[in-house]
Amino acid sequence: MSYPYQITSLEAYRAEWRRSIDDPEGFWSDVAGHFTWRRRWDKVLSWNFTDPDVRWFEGARLNITENCLDRHLEERGDQPAILWEPNDPQDAPRVLTYRQLHFKVCQFAHVLHNNGVRKGDRVCIYMGMIPELAVAVLACARVGAIHSVIFGGFSAQSIADRLQDAHAEYVITCDGAFRGAKDIPLKSVIDDALVSCPFVKRTIVFTRTRTPVSMIKGRDVWWEDEIHKVESAGNPPFPAVEMDAEDPLFILYTSGSTGKPKGVVHSSAGYMVYTNYTFVNVFQYRPGEVHFCTADIGWITGHSYIVYGPLGAGATSLMFEGVPTWPDAGRFWDIVDKHRVNILYTAPTAIRSLMAYGLGPLQGRSLETLRVIGTVGEPINEEAWHWYDEHVGRRRCPIVDTWWQTETGGVMISNMAGVTPSKPSHATLPMPGVEPLLVDEAGREVVGNGVSGNLCIRSPWPSVIRTTYGDHERCRTNYFSTYPGLYFTGDGALRDENGYYRITGRVDDVLNVSGHRIGTAEVENAINMHAGVVESAVVGYPHDIKGQGIYAYVIMGELHGDEELTRRDIALTVSRVIGPIAKPDRIQFVTGLPKTRSGKIMRRILRKIAEGETQNLGDTTTLLDPGVVQDISKGRINR
Ligand code: WT7
Repeated sequence: MSYPYQITSLEAYRAEWRRSIDDPEGFWSDVAGHFTWRRRWDKVLSWNFTDPDVRWFEGARLNITENCLDRHLEERGDQPAILWEPNDPQDAPRVLTYRQLHFKVCQFAHVLHNNGVRKGDRVCIYMGMIPELAVAVLACARVGAIHSVIFGGFSAQSIADRLQDAHAEYVITCDGAFRGAKDIPLKSVIDDALVSCPFVKRTIVFTRTRTPVSMIKGRDVWWEDEIHKVESAGNPPFPAVEMDAEDPLFILYTSGSTGKPKGVVHSSAGYMVYTNYTFVNVFQYRPGEVHFCTADIGWITGHSYIVYGPLGAGATSLMFEGVPTWPDAGRFWDIVDKHRVNILYTAPTAIRSLMAYGLGPLQGRSLETLRVIGTVGEPINEEAWHWYDEHVGRRRCPIVDTWWQTETGGVMISNMAGVTPSKPSHATLPMPGVEPLLVDEAGREVVGNGVSGNLCIRSPWPSVIRTTYGDHERCRTNYFSTYPGLYFTGDGALRDENGYYRITGRVDDVLNVSGHRIGTAEVENAINMHAGVVESAVVGYPHDIKGQGIYAYVIMGELHGDEELTRRDIALTVSRVIGPIAKPDRIQFVTGLPKTRSGKIMRRILRKIAEGETQNLGDTTTLLDPGVVQDISKGRINR
């Protein structure tokens, strides 16, 4: 089987893109015709970006797991759906064929059902990168429950916030997770979170690390025991629950410019069609190939390009439990050779951190099976791009630089491997169905090529965010009100003389640290929770490996004792409140912050100082106390 909707030439790309914009309904109904539906749609698209209200394939009925599992059984039941590489390379890898994965998802769907989970219920999943995580996600989808996966690096407090926001009554977790040399006690973090979430009725715990856990009677059950019950009942199949095209499939929390993460909601049909379409086209997937996306399923990249996109396309998806640098910095390359990986999809931060180890770890690794390599999550600098091209792709693999967001569900701007041209540091051209435009501060469209502006999208693609959970107004103000009638991405971009896009980074108060999205306001709130802190301001600064580092300016009530110890306490506070991923890299104690007369912090100045600029700080005349800038600039931290 190959894919009737796979584009294989530049001319075809141009024609398909044109048609997708001129006739989106015709275009997407043709693509959607290749999926399994219980009932076809009445209307392909109705929308406005004012409310916003977007409905794709209205009236259609389906279950995404029938498309990701059942429909492949006949033709590729014995083909690996998931290849799993454990944290420890000495341990045995696991293979789940489509038949086995289907079986496990049905079993666990029974477990969910037996424990009271029903269509529309919210289920929080907090697990390490093991096949059971994919099983849990798909089983939720099969029973029609809305999953909310939380990355294992988030703290108990962050989990509690998310559980409360989604009012999730069910939690699926593990005793612990292995990541590199560390064991992460997941269940114990969940226990701390649940202290403030008495509405949680059931926790299902999978055994991975066999670390001691406290199992609370009436609330906590073991995954394995629950599976035994289904086995005793003879493992009946689990008929997938029929969903409406627009029924929510999942919630995924992400950071914005306010202190509170928002629950991005994706719906069933549009997300299914778009992730599959982009998977097949961006990577030019060929049946039988092994696709290795190194992201965690706790992020959108893992949802779309480990689970739903690849499985929808009947692909073999490789899942890796560990980290790129353990037991050594050759781990990715070993995995590529061991599992004969054809497509490698990773983040620029991973590439930069591996670059720092030199070429040693690449020696003796053949990498001959690689055909396509890709990046996602942040702008890739030219140096890293060329290193990836030369030493990983060995100059024979196209690099796809894929720009997209949690809110877009799938890749929006990217070259298609070997089909459309690539250009270092450029995401290049929009996917069919995507019409990007640049606007200036006043909201006027910037036309022509060789220009820059704020990146917006003109009309809906099938996997556009539908709402922010429990607060539709927030969705409207965040994405659809800055430039009325347009979706605003929060990114700045250039469009070069050929019309290729280069994404330059966020223009709002959102940081991108090692490909993780973190709001400055969230970090400030966390810092301000530390007992001695009066006020703080957080900005990003260029970081060789992380892309951006977190720089915090902190005013203390009184600073007694060792500054260095206080810095550590503040960092630990942030770690407890948000998670280790949000720990500031640099903390500078200051006596004042540059504020305008109306009390607004001038972040532009703080950003410049953090970047090392001490001379041209721009206009400081509107500051309440311009003197504060000199003091801050003198005390700048640079290590
Ligand atoms: C932000 C979205 C999409 C999955 C991972 C991140 C930045 C993403 C690129 C790229 C330049 C990129 C943007 C975007 N970003 N991909 N190829 N080139 N920047 O998802 O956490 O929702 O973050 O990541 O700034 O807005 P996310």
